[in-house]
Amino acid sequence: MKRIKAIYPGSFDPPTNGHLDLIERGSKIFDELVVAILRNPEKSPLFSLADRRKMLEAMTSGFENVSVDTFDGLTVDYALKVEAQAILRGIRAISDYEYELQMAMMNRKLEPDVETVFMLPSEQYSYLSSRLIKQLARLNGQIKDFVPSVVLERLKTKFH
Ligand code: PNS
Repeated sequence: MKRIKAIYPGSFDPPTNGHLDLIERGSKIFDELVVAILRNPEKSPLFSLADRRKMLEAMTSGFENVSVDTFDGLTVDYALKVEAQAILRGIRAISDYEYELQMAMMNRKLEPDVETVFMLPSEQYSYLSSRLIKQLARLNGQIKDFVPSVVLERLKTKFH
């Protein structure tokens, strides 16, 4: 029987409950799911790559078919390297759609055999983003409902 491996690429700076929700959904439909953190030279992240990796590893330790990795360069090249057939991305709202469509089409042009699969996070996370979490944490807002405890602790240490 054919086994389907997917990658879930992103910045995860920091990972949120929305990411975790998507990881859980992805782990149910794919045989194997690799959460792939991009080392993005264009962005200066709040958390180092190593920190983000540790947080995601702690968050996903309960999923047998989920692993965490980091990558450089094109997402499709990484997908080919790890022999994944699919790229998982979340769409929260219509505002995500245009960017995601553009990226999925470009990835398809670059590598037609790698399929992008979109999933919707639970509606309670539909307005959540790493950017807003950082802003809330910086301004002492309540974030405990939006991030796993391992991320909450690290955000507290960063800002207070
Ligand atoms: O969490 P993000 O920041 O929305 O993730 C964006 C990500 C990492 C999926 C995207 O920027 C990406 O794939 N970057 C790697 C370069 C690439 O392959 N770009 C798409 C085709 S040009």
